[in-house]
Amino acid sequence: MRRPFVAGNWKMHGSRTENAELIEALLLGVPGQTTTEIVVCPTFVHLWEIGRLLKASNVSLGAQSVCAEAVGAFTGEVSAAMLKDVGCRYVIVGHSERRAIYKEDDALVARKFLAVKAQGMIPILCVGESLDERERRTTNQIVTRQLSAVLDLAGVEAFGEAIVAYEPVWAIGTGKNASPEQAQEVHAHIRSVVEARDAKIAARLRILYGGSVKGSNAREIFAMADVDGGLIGGASLKADEFLKICAAVQVH
Ligand code: PGA
Repeated sequence: MRRPFVAGNWKMHGSRTENAELIEALLLGVPGQTTTEIVVCPTFVHLWEIGRLLKASNVSLGAQSVCAEAVGAFTGEVSAAMLKDVGCRYVIVGHSERRAIYKEDDALVARKFLAVKAQGMIPILCVGESLDERERRTTNQIVTRQLSAVLDLAGVEAFGEAIVAYEPVWAIGTGKNASPEQAQEVHAHIRSVVEARDAKIAARLRILYGGSVKGSNAREIFAMADVDGGLIGGASLKADEFLKICAAVQVH
């Protein structure tokens, strides 16, 4: 049995006032006894304050990215130790916007994954194909390559406490989600790639779907056997939508 997981990726949105309102509404709506793990990932500059607002709640704090290096002359970067220090428990690595816009390659993503693990935090590793790659029927190949880069560097044991998010690039922010069957197919593939290295770790691994998840489509996507929750962008900025999504997750 895998504990369901929903993370909100706020991307570059929010002000201190808006964040406070969003968190207040969220905390009012999160059931006290929920078995679902709920995480919000605001921008770096908002982490500390949001962390304070979440204190004594059952919602955790995550960051959207991290520097692969530990310390030193890396202007503009934020280290894993700093994220840990302000209360992060999770860190997203390899989001497709980082890969595409900021040219983060598989090797760098793998090093970021390791940096997060080294601080005892939990990486949320994003993988996924572009529209072009899907149309060329190379989805499994792309996802295998992205996963293997991390498995090779960090070892499969590192996935004992890690989360994978399948986010087809063509579904992110487009309003066009993968069908539940499309998501299930790739999720099963992801699990099989990990299973080839360690069946027990693969069986426990939580795999999230991300890409235009909303309150109205979450339930059918989360019903799929290998979908353990979601990584939510746009819909995580509205408390009622995000709460609907959280309520739709299922235990597999
Ligand atoms: P979206 O973004 O839900 O707005 O499609 C998902 C993500 O980028 O994590």
